[in-house]
Amino acid sequence: MIRNVVGMFFSPSGETAKITRKITTELSERLDELCIDPIGRSFVDLLKDPIKEDRTLDSETIVVMGMPVLSGRIPEVCTEMLKKLHGNDTLAIVLVSYGNNTYGDALKELYCTVCDQNFGVVSAGAFIARNPMFGTIAEDRPDAYDLQQIIEFSRVSANKIRRFCGTEIQGMKARLAPLNVKGDLPSRKPSRFPIHPVAGSACTNCGRCRDICPVGAINMDDPRKVDGKKCISCSACIAACPEGAMSYAGPLYAASRVALERLYNKRQDPEWFI
Ligand SMILES: Cc1cc2nc3c(=O)[nH]c(=O)nc-3n(C[C@H](O)[C@H](O)[C@H](O)COP(=O)(O)O)c2cc1C
Ligand code: SF4
Ligand code: SF4
Repeated sequence: MIRNVVGMFFSPSGETAKITRKITTELSERLDELCIDPIGRSFVDLLKDPIKEDRTLDSETIVVMGMPVLSGRIPEVCTEMLKKLHGNDTLAIVLVSYGNNTYGDALKELYCTVCDQNFGVVSAGAFIARNPMFGTIAEDRPDAYDLQQIIEFSRVSANKIRRFCGTEIQGMKARLAPLNVKGDLPSRKPSRFPIHPVAGSACTNCGRCRDICPVGAINMDDPRKVDGKKCISCSACIAACPEGAMSYAGPLYAASRVALERLYNKRQDPEWFI
């Protein structure tokens, strides 16, 4: 019996969070219609509440796991966290959000990692959202069509859960068939973007960027110093700064912006595997 739907996301600039929240809400409302007791719904923001110790989810919980695509992969810090999260006959829906170029191997990587952690993955989806680094790329996404697709993905996932849970006979659980998720299981280390945010003159040294940085790249005493070897260019510090003081700058950023805006302008649409 399913009793809880948990939306878990890592979302440095907020787009993955929006999509994960919407799917979690749609899914729990659809499953609620079937159950006598109301289904609980909760959210875990992995940026603010990272998984530091082993945690196991039970068979009454469905997790909706959302991650952003960074350079065709899910962030390494997320893979490390996922290895501490365990399923115990727990169902999962996995999704990535990406900035209208390609989701590369990220969805496959997320799918395989979650399967390895003993979750039964019902469905896997890739959705398009604004790129925080270059605001004009996919700037209006998710749009009305994307939203319709997000709702449809939730609907077909809920139907599959309904059918799957209906196959339980005296505690004998059916096994979910593997999904043919696009991508390869990456063997190389993720590549890093050689561009990092810098704090400008509006900085008041409040420390919020330092507190939110998932890899400890911002100097404890001086937030104007970002360690380029640690920084994964996720943009969480930019989103967290109350003064709008953090931004990308410099000639390499300007040149990348021109090139990537031209390269990423062909519309991509949501895709899913079920
Ligand atoms: C460093 C970095 C690398 C990215 N790499 C890709 C990529 O390989 N393909 C793509 O389509 N979008 C890429 N994007 C865009 C993000 O995947 C996309 O904007 C995502 O929705 C951001 O999620 P968030 O708002 O939850 O942080 C990248 C963004 C950043 C900041
Ligand atoms: S310093 Fe780099 S890794 Fe840290 S939050 Fe900012 S962009 Fe992300
Ligand atoms: S969040 Fe903004 S104002 Fe606060 S320390 Fe960081 S850059 Fe400075």
